Amino acid sequence: MFDPHRVNFFDTTLRDGEQAAGVNLNAAEKLQIAKQLAKMKIDVIEAGFPAASPGDFNCVKTVAREVPGVTVAALARTTEGDIRAAGQALAEAERARIHTFIATSPIHMAHKLRLTPEQVLGEVRAGVSLARSLAGEVEFSAEDASRSDLDFLIKVFKLAAECGATVLNIPDTVGYAVPEEFHDFCRAVIKGVAAPEGVIFSVHTHNDLGLAVANSLAAVRAGVRQVEGTINGMGERGGNAAIEEVVMAIKTRADIYAPIHTGLVTNRLYPVSRLVSRLSGLAVPPNKAVVGANAFAHEAGIHQHGVLSNRETYEIMKAEDVGSVPAVIVLGKHSGRHAFRDRLELLGYQLDDEQISRAFDSFKRLCDEKKDVSDGDIEAIISDQILAVTPEHRYELLEYAVGVGAGLSTATVVIRRDHEKELRDAATGNGPIDSAYNAIKRAMDFYPQLENFSIRATSPRSDALGETVVELSHGGVSAQGRGAATDIVKASIQAYINAVNRLYTQAAARDVRLTPAG
Ligand code: KIV
Ligand code: ZN
Repeated sequence: MFDPHRVNFFDTTLRDGEQAAGVNLNAAEKLQIAKQLAKMKIDVIEAGFPAASPGDFNCVKTVAREVPGVTVAALARTTEGDIRAAGQALAEAERARIHTFIATSPIHMAHKLRLTPEQVLGEVRAGVSLARSLAGEVEFSAEDASRSDLDFLIKVFKLAAECGATVLNIPDTVGYAVPEEFHDFCRAVIKGVAAPEGVIFSVHTHNDLGLAVANSLAAVRAGVRQVEGTINGMGERGGNAAIEEVVMAIKTRADIYAPIHTGLVTNRLYPVSRLVSRLSGLAVPPNKAVVGANAFAHEAGIHQHGVLSNRETYEIMKAEDVGSVPAVIVLGKHSGRHAFRDRLELLGYQLDDEQISRAFDSFKRLCDEKKDVSDGDIEAIISDQILAVTPEHRYELLEYAVGVGAGLSTATVVIRRDHEKELRDAATGNGPIDSAYNAIKRAMDFYPQLENFSIRATSPRSDALGETVVELSHGGVSAQGRGAATDIVKASIQAYINAVNRLYTQAAARDVRLTPAG
């Protein structure tokens, strides 16, 4: 039954979020995130833009097939090819939504689309009607709506609703709006369109001025009933509205928003945030609202005193409400498969039996190297050794040796290609990692550009795993790889090889041929 006070959440972490610089998620990683979003009872998951690449098409198809209980959306321009690709990718979804869009602002119509307003109306009519014939739900977005002429926008939305769209989205594509203005704009659109019952308005805000969340909340007060955003606000440029912030504002300030409510299970926010951060490689700043490491930490003595006598002195929400509770049980060599599986669930991973077996073997091997295994260690095993390694991966590390001298290091690596051919080479460098990377490049006869390199510990202890993140680029394609081990040279080699494998996957998905390695 239609509930006029419910705000639906549309998560676009896997589509708009993935457009953040340096982020690329493989199908296994996207599936993990989608399953966790479904567990949090998100209303809609936008899984990708099927016409953009075969890789995106497959991700949408996988999420549509394997994540029940949620609407799965696929993005499409208003062109026939895009819409048919979206329809095909969504074929197995329990609830499928084609999300079609075209720009409506004067600047986009004239300079990007080179279409007249009349031609844009023609596109809307054809695109939405076709989408309606291919999927149960159709959402129409007027790209750059916040810089569009109000009367024209109303005309466009009226037409989209006539052709079968049930969600009319008002994007602030370039993050230009400010809350008071956006509130009034959304209200005027809603009033002007006077859509039939069952049609809802949505907003999709960007954070270029740091106002994405404030603009979404202003729009909710204006009558919008779907908010689009991403976990951790991940996205291009300044990012998108952070879902965790919008939902917690509505919940915490029920005195302002009630009877407006959401259906989200908020104690899943923190695990999902960690999962997205780990798999995307984008760290959550410690002072980030709701899910930052310091969001519930009270440093000042006077605050600590207050919180101890009454939490509400300095806490407006509870850490438990967002699922940010520290683990009390530490896993170690006496922990069995059952405890390990439970911890994976708690950390937000839903793996199949084969993946759990492989992860458990890695966990047991790690227990031989260190006494206690932290959550950070387990997360590193899963993301770096299970999800990052796809069946089509080309290269794997067999052996390595490094020699460190004053000013000069040497490294030898043995790598297997395509599950059979062994490649072996040695090189020097200005440290063990540099020499290992030079040896790998020689062995593969492949010389990508190193764009980023970082090492961090998975916990604040000296026996923590060292986790390396490497970003490589070649031929216009870039990819990130991760590696974790008690030895940071090994972690760095694994990260490099992982990044090369992902470069190949990315390149194949975009029909780019990487040379000279054959
Ligand atoms: O920012 C934007 O306008 C978009 C649309 C495709 C909804 O991402
Ligand atoms: Zn966007």
